[in-house]
Amino acid sequence: MDYDIAAYGEHRPEYDSMSWALRHDEDEASSFLAALAPGGRALELGIGTGRVALPLAGRGLKVVGVEGSPTMAAGLERNVGDEDVEVVIGDFADVPVEGEFDLVYCISETFFLLPTQESQVRCVRNAAEHLPEGGLFVIQAFVPDHDLYCANQSTGTRVVGDRNAIISARRHDRAEQRVELQSIQLREDGNTFYPMLYRYVWPSELDLMAQLAGLTRVSRAGGWRGERYTGSGEYVAVYRKN
Ligand SMILES: C[S@@+](CC[C@H](N)C(=O)[O-])C[C@H]1O[C@@H](n2cnc3c(N)ncnc32)[C@H](O)[C@@H]1O
Repeated sequence: MDYDIAAYGEHRPEYDSMSWALRHDEDEASSFLAALAPGGRALELGIGTGRVALPLAGRGLKVVGVEGSPTMAAGLERNVGDEDVEVVIGDFADVPVEGEFDLVYCISETFFLLPTQESQVRCVRNAAEHLPEGGLFVIQAFVPDHDLYCANQSTGTRVVGDRNAIISARRHDRAEQRVELQSIQLREDGNTFYPMLYRYVWPSELDLMAQLAGLTRVSRAGGWRGERYTGSGEYVAVYRKN
């Protein structure tokens, strides 16, 4: 699959805003993040349209975001009111911003959109370089589930309606930990394709990437409210710069 991240904003916003795909965790996420750096400077990797950055800025932080899709960045700029939020266009693996931040965060499994292990390692190292000693790096991700795949493939049904359906097709490269995903909306008036390519990391691999960058894990919880980590599903990990 040939997949260009700059094109993300061309097809994803419609998909991401479908009622069943909405995360509804903006309040919990921004409350959790604000408590880690009260009144401080935060950097979001893959800020999108500011779903969490805006409520976080509303809680008194200055937020800078890196975003690869000009369309998503334009959406953010439309959404910003009085909040102190700024967006920089670029690849968040490079963390192309100036200065230090009390908190760097990457949520909604966005870290997995970096397509190679090399870019993920580089990203964590660059993020750590923008933290002072004691600064925090937060990742929200999921524990991969190999049971989803049979012969390294899976198909699934996301939505079934009277006149439409959304099905998904995944191809799994076990060695590279990469998944090509195509979600297809079938409708009477035609089909819409929502492609995606991601590379998942295991929680222990993320710990190792952090360790290589001079960060130590301080917590790993099952959610924003400190739910118990069960070893499956989504989690929130916090790392501190040594
Ligand atoms: C799943 S969305 C999440 C947006 C936001 N963090 C949120 O929680 O609503 C992922 C975002 O990351 C951006 N993105 C993906 N890969 C990127 C990269 N390598 N560099 C910069 N932005 C990237 C996409 O364009 C998209 O806006």
